[in-house]
Amino acid sequence: RAKVTLATLRKLYKRGEPITMLTAHDFPTGTLVDKAGMDMTLVGDSLAMVALGYPSTSEITLDEMLHHCRAVARGTRSSFLVADMPFGTYETSPEQAINTAVRMMKEGKAEAVKMEGGKEMAPTIARLTQVGIPVLGHIGLTPQRQASLGGFKVQGKTAAKARGIIEDAQALQDAGCFAIVLEAVPEPVATHVTNILNIPTIGIGAGVGCSGQVLVQQDMLGLYGRVPKFCKTYRGLADEIVGALKEYSADVKSGAFPAAEHCYPMPQEELNRFMR
Ligand code: KIV
Ligand code: NA
Repeated sequence: RAKVTLATLRKLYKRGEPITMLTAHDFPTGTLVDKAGMDMTLVGDSLAMVALGYPSTSEITLDEMLHHCRAVARGTRSSFLVADMPFGTYETSPEQAINTAVRMMKEGKAEAVKMEGGKEMAPTIARLTQVGIPVLGHIGLTPQRQASLGGFKVQGKTAAKARGIIEDAQALQDAGCFAIVLEAVPEPVATHVTNILNIPTIGIGAGVGCSGQVLVQQDMLGLYGRVPKFCKTYRGLADEIVGALKEYSADVKSGAFPAAEHCYPMPQEELNRFMR
């Protein structure tokens, strides 16, 4: 498949073809996403939880994100690679955000960065896009702010809150975002936002009216504990894997593994010499 660029994404959006995006956190998971022909790969800071075992996304450092981003990049050929700017690495000033984004691109090999936040982040996003850094916005449920949101909860359920999301989306579009992630917002709100914007919306828990969808790979494969309501579990791979591991363990205990076909032979002549 030809390399996906911002122009490709624009074409898909204009054509009304849903844009596909999935997370990856290392070389093998990145390779899988690319092989599946996903339009975009996201090195999401959800990897803090699903790959590193942190209790939330806010603890991960920039160096940790860069380490994972580079690994995903090594497995990515055609998919458009976006990486999350971690909590605390872009909020202080546009300068801080530029420094972080440049590292994500130069060291992390990301082609674009994602940052959470609404109109309060618009001046920062404008500075990034002005210097040629593609930015994917992220509004609605913003997990990096879960402490102030009081947990992982649907956003924009009242008319007033929904209007706030629309204002945020518009501000992000005006700031130059190439697309906006809408997380955990009621379907009618997400559909309305999608209809009034002229850039794609990428939904997660935002309904089918968005211009595209994103999921966390570990969630949709059944590899990470509790899955949010909005995620469809396509496979229960954890059960599959634990089953395989148990079989291996039982085989070792019983002596069924390794069998003859897993062993290296020795030429008979050498064996005779060896045994003499
Ligand atoms: O970190 C992540 O995986 C994300 C997606 C859920 C959008 O931000
Ligand atoms: Na994220």
